[in-house]
Amino acid sequence: MIGLIPKLLVNFVTQERGAEAARRVLEGAGVAPGRHYRLDSPYDDGEVHRLWASTVAEFGLTQHDFELRFATFFGEDARRRWPAWFRMSANAREFLMRQPVIHNSLATGLHDAAERRAVADKFRLEARPDTIVVHYRSPHQLCGLYMALARWVLDQYGERGTVDEVTCLRRGDAACEIHVRWAREEAARG
Ligand code: HEM
Repeated sequence: MIGLIPKLLVNFVTQERGAEAARRVLEGAGVAPGRHYRLDSPYDDGEVHRLWASTVAEFGLTQHDFELRFATFFGEDARRRWPAWFRMSANAREFLMRQPVIHNSLATGLHDAAERRAVADKFRLEARPDTIVVHYRSPHQLCGLYMALARWVLDQYGERGTVDEVTCLRRGDAACEIHVRWAREEAARG
């Protein structure tokens, strides 16, 4: 996985709980103290998985509640770091349809073709008139983060819609299928 999520996990815990908590999170994940994650480098999936679990444990939240809080932190960070992606999307549907392109554009910095393919293969989107159907498959099983971020994107654009999961990797399905659906009047406007 590209270093964005591990970097933000460390930043999030540092901001919310301080440097000592960040040190504990890294230690709990078996990662060297002071490890610096880079946006242009890939990291071992097992390490990211341990770092995620260690951060959730540090906060003492359920996975769901942690995803909600982390999604807001992630979204606000992305808005500051990459404002152009937000400017070029006129509404939430455009932004969400662009999300796999955004991921792939960050993956162009990876040297290994297999690493780039691993990023590209995680998401496949289908555009329907009032719905985006998201097919997601990843060893990280972060469908809850996807749903929390999709709701955050709807909020950013002042839109109303629902985000539901029809199948889920965590329940043993082959992939997650997530439906982002707009109310009829919003779909007509978009
Ligand atoms: C400017 C906006 C965004 C940027 C720059 C961004 C960037 C990234 C990057 C670099 C990764 C790691 C990708 C990998 O290694 O496979 C990632 C992961 C992820 N992003 Fe985004 N993202 C953005 C917006 C979104 C939005 C809006 C959503 C959902 C609606 C989303 C959902 C996810 C999920 C679920 C993962 C974890 C994927 C996995 O299973 O590894 N992202 N994002």
